[in-house]
Order: sequence, then C-alpha cells, then structure tokens
Amino acid sequence: MMDYISRHLPRRFFVTGTDTNTGKTFVSAMLMLGLKSHYWKPIQSGIAEGSDTDWIRKITELPDEYFFKERYLLNEPLSPHAAALIDGVKIELNAITAPGPSDQSLIIEGAGGVMVPINDQHMMLDVIKKLALPAILVCRSGLGTINHSLLTINCLRQAGVGIAGVIMNGPLNESNRAAIENYGQVPVLAEIEPIENVSRRSLLEIFEHNFGVKQ
Ligand SMILES: Nc1ncnc2c1ncn2[C@@H]1O[C@H](COP(=O)(O)OP(=O)(O)O)[C@@H](O)[C@H]1O
Ligand SMILES: [Mg+2]
Repeated sequence: MMDYISRHLPRRFFVTGTDTNTGKTFVSAMLMLGLKSHYWKPIQSGIAEGSDTDWIRKITELPDEYFFKERYLLNEPLSPHAAALIDGVKIELNAITAPGPSDQSLIIEGAGGVMVPINDQHMMLDVIKKLALPAILVCRSGLGTINHSLLTINCLRQAGVGIAGVIMNGPLNESNRAAIENYGQVPVLAEIEPIENVSRRSLLEIFEHNFGVKQ
C-alpha cells in the first residue's frame, strides 16, 4: 500500500502556499506522518512565536532525526527580506541547499507564498527554483482561492517548477476544486476540512482519508 503513495507523490518536494496561514505547516506535519518524511524549513521568521519545526516536532511526536535545522532563523514575524534587514542578516540564495542524501524523503516548507522577497533580488520562488524540486501548493478552499491558486500556479509554471498537485484546506468546496483542476490543469491531491483537535492521531486520520493508506 505504501507503494501506491510513493508513486503519486515525489520523495522530495517543496510545500508552498497561496498565502501565509493557508496550512503549509499543518499539511507538512500530516504528510510527514503519512509518508515518514523528513522536514526542513530553510527560512523561519518570527521565532518568538515559536518555529514551524518545533510545532511539527511536538504534534507529530517524531524523533529529532526527522528534522533538519533551519538555515535562517529571524526574530521578527515579518517577510524574510524585512526580518533579515532588522537582524542584520543577508539571506543568500546560494546558502540554501537541501539537506540529506538526495534519495531521502524530504518535505521543505517555504515562508509565505511564492512572491515573498528573501533579499533585494530574490523571491521565495527563486528558492524553489534553485532547489529544483516539485511543489505542492496549499490553498484555502473558500471564496478567493481560484484567483490566488491560479496566480501561484502560473508563477510556478513560468519559473519551470513542477507542480505535484494542490491541497485544499478548509470547508469542502466542490465548485472551487473543479475550477482549480480545470483552469489550473493540476490535480487536487487532498481536501482537508477544519478539525477541532490537531493531534498526531487526527493528522494520520486525515492522511488515511485523503490518500487511502493504512499505517
Ligand atoms: N484543517 C485544519 N484544521 C484545524 N486547524 C488548522 C487546519 N489547517 C491549519 N490549521 C491551523 O491554522 C493555523 C495556520 O496554519 P499553518 O499550517 O501554520 O499555516 P502556514 O504554515 O501556511 O502559515 C495553525 O494554527 C494551524 O494549526
Ligand atoms: Mg508555516
């Protein structure tokens, strides 16, 4: 049964979103548990609010070896370019290289969406391009998502980034799903409804429900 999944999702991929707070970290935790993947967040801003890595470590209860250390940890909860400026750090595209052996499963989470600047010249899109991995796009399910999803899909395609698929987060919306698949020419891999209690158990249930794999 695990073969089924590995044929449909790449071993290493980049999780991006149409915006901040669309559920990239939530989805990364769910996929980590289901796929037994490693996780890396190269650029983390707003560390006082807690890092995405720490949140996922706590919720998944996975051991430390599943987590790679951030390349840039920035204090302010701002766009990386602005947070780096305040900390007196220059984020270098060349300093961002994927950790671990290339055949090891890995989920890389971006900061914000694809057009978030990381320095004077580069966007998060350039990071995805440089890492040369396919992207999974996490979007909202409700009103506005068609525009945001298609904009992001266009941007990724223009940059030559492969799109493994879209994951919709929020109340089920069949019409928006069909529009994204049709106009975006991408598969919607999963639809995740809001849940009351986020836990290792509930994330595994979401994985099983959407990908049909029993642990
Ligand atoms: N389907 C969901 N059900 C319940 N809570 C969710 C769901 N998706 C996201 N959340 C919560 O919403 C907040 C924002 O999600 P998060 O994954 O941190 O977004 P991002 O990484 O894109 O900024 C977090 O507190 C997260 O746990
Ligand atoms: Mg996040």
